Amino acid sequence: MSAAAVAKVQEVREISRVERIGAHSHIRGLGLDDNREPRNVSQGLVGQLKARKAMGVVLDMIKEEKIAGRSVLLAGEPGTGKTAIAMALAQALGSDTPFTCMSGSEIYSLEMSKTEALTQAIRKSIGVRIKEESEIIEGEVVEFQIERPVTGTGSKVGKLTMRTTDMETVYDLGNKMIEALLKEKVLAGDVVTIDVASGKVNKIGRSFTRSRDYDASGPQTRFVQCPEGELQKRKEVVHTVTLHEIDVINSRTHGFLALFSGDTGEIKSEVRDQINCKVSEWREEGKAELLAGVLFIDEVHMLDIECFSFLNRALENEIAPIVITATNRGVTNIRGTNYKSPHGVPLDLLDRMVIIMTQPYSENELEQILKIRAEEEDCEISKDALSILAKISKSTSLRYGIQLITTAHLVCRKRKATEVTVDDVKKVYRLFLDEERSTQLMKEYQKEYMFDHYAMTDAENEEDKRDDSMEVQNDSTSST
Ligand SMILES: Nc1ncnc2c1ncn2[C@@H]1O[C@H](COP(=O)(O)OP(=O)(O)OP(=O)(O)O)[C@@H](O)[C@H]1O
Ligand SMILES: [Mg+2]
Repeated sequence: MSAAAVAKVQEVREISRVERIGAHSHIRGLGLDDNREPRNVSQGLVGQLKARKAMGVVLDMIKEEKIAGRSVLLAGEPGTGKTAIAMALAQALGSDTPFTCMSGSEIYSLEMSKTEALTQAIRKSIGVRIKEESEIIEGEVVEFQIERPVTGTGSKVGKLTMRTTDMETVYDLGNKMIEALLKEKVLAGDVVTIDVASGKVNKIGRSFTRSRDYDASGPQTRFVQCPEGELQKRKEVVHTVTLHEIDVINSRTHGFLALFSGDTGEIKSEVRDQINCKVSEWREEGKAELLAGVLFIDEVHMLDIECFSFLNRALENEIAPIVITATNRGVTNIRGTNYKSPHGVPLDLLDRMVIIMTQPYSENELEQILKIRAEEEDCEISKDALSILAKISKSTSLRYGIQLITTAHLVCRKRKATEVTVDDVKKVYRLFLDEERSTQLMKEYQKEYMFDHYAMTDAENEEDKRDDSMEVQNDSTSST
């Protein structure tokens, strides 16, 4: 049983070592300097200075923790880095601030209603910082003695001598404590903390005073100073959990394991009401603080009118996260209605948002982004090939260019070379079509395919031009 458990742990470790390269894995932050001015190329981001500077302001807003219920819309053409900038914000915020990422279409799940999905997403984005005081013993181990019974069975007893720079104390140890210390492989010279209430042992590192004891110490050995003052201290521990996590743990129908499976289903509103009450009690007593995180809704035009009006209301709530949305749509139908609106978002919600526009990239910027991507994918590429790729990206799209890096790299490896050249790029450009060439080809050869759809839509388009009111009807039938 225990062998199986050990094997499993190792398996998990293996997985974490494999690093996958995703669309935004080259992004490490917003790339701002200390004055919150964007550097042209930094932390994986290139150009798009205005949007990044604006996002820096949003970042400050969130970090100050004073503002909740604000909302931002990132609008711009496809491939201009909206999702990338949102991911950069998540990185810049760090792991302490809750950041929930969802796509607009995620709410149309069969398992729960749209508003429930949105409520869960909102509550996932609000953190509760719970403060807990605990008593710990912190010091350097001087001596650790165990007396084993002669018979070999029965419980062990022992003594632990600990010291700080100011004092030294001997503690008597019971069986359980000895096991805990042995499990952590505590030796004389280690600096450890022991939680008095739970008996949990935590090894901080080795004391500097003992650094000369061994000639060979591994690179992972951490040397720390021997602690000062009293051995026994009070320490404040802060846990951050999200409201959603508290909801799930307290909803009787789904145990806390639902947190891992993600299969939480609907949560009753009574549970939420109770938790809200409890949390505000904690806040009054000073035990907990609320922390407004970020809810990022990508492709926000996929939400429908019901969700939008729900959001309107939710943003005005006292406990609301900062909502960041992104869309690449211009003036289009609001889903679920026949009304048109900028970005497919109703005007009353737009009115509550500040809008950040992203601009198309210049060829130079495209080249920089492609260079960063090539580095991320461990792909060596010649300067000429890179500038050809940038030209291709300018006339087609950045995403197509990024995809050509991977494919050209494969072609290059096939001919056992290390550097991607212009020829490799040309080859894959011929092998893989971009959207425009593909559309062109479809138009030319549509007759040979099944369901020659283009002929139909062309005819329909003609009709549409003639009759404007028809258009609205066509749109609404195709969207449902
Ligand atoms: N300024 C930038 N610096 C570095 N990489 C970028 C930048 N802008 C975009 N990218 C990269 O280009 C690709 C496309 O960008 P992204 O997905 O952010 O576009 P988008 O605006 O969200 O497009 P869509 O509207 O289609 O969702 C991603 O791999 C992204 O990481
Ligand atoms: Mg996107």
